[in-house]
Amino acid sequence: MRLFVALDFPEAVKDQLSGLRADIPTARWVTRDQMHLTLFFIGETDRLAEVKSTLGEINVAPFEVSLTGVGRFPKGKHQPPRVLWAGVDGPPALNDLESQVKSRLTRLGFESDARPFHPHVTLARLKMRDNLPVMRKFMTDHRDFHAGPIAVESFTLYSSTLSPQGAVYTREAVYPLSP
Ligand code: 2AM
Repeated sequence: MRLFVALDFPEAVKDQLSGLRADIPTARWVTRDQMHLTLFFIGETDRLAEVKSTLGEINVAPFEVSLTGVGRFPKGKHQPPRVLWAGVDGPPALNDLESQVKSRLTRLGFESDARPFHPHVTLARLKMRDNLPVMRKFMTDHRDFHAGPIAVESFTLYSSTLSPQGAVYTREAVYPLSP
């Protein structure tokens, strides 16, 4: 199965994120059920029990994050955009959680992303060949997007399966953060 670790968001935040949907050519907007903040992408594995057990040993107190502004990957203005996202303003505890998840999973042999952690919530995936003016308009229109503060009281292990309607994410385990 294909696994990843992420933060889930309350429905009210998903409402706000859904409000960002715009008419952008080639954009496939994520559904409410697909919205999350990825902490670690594990990929294909059959070691669910080991993953569940190591994640259960993580020790981080609850914290708050806010979502702020929007951006794109890749960041270079001359490259066509592939991913549109909402930005994340998180405390050191968010990085602490991410690094604990990373250190436990890399100890099990899973490879971490070589790029530095750039917390974001994917809004849409695009197949544009050029950086269209509509993209620049989206960026300026939502420069001041804000959601939160959002209480983060747990993190989630998801599995992902592909269906004709797109990826379906299933919660395999939810780990409460404890003070
Ligand atoms: P994202 O967080 O930028 O949206 C499930 O596929 C989630 O894992 C997606 O949200 C995705 O990116 C994230 N992810 C990170 N690295 C990935 C990879 N190499 N392949 C697929 N998804 C990846």
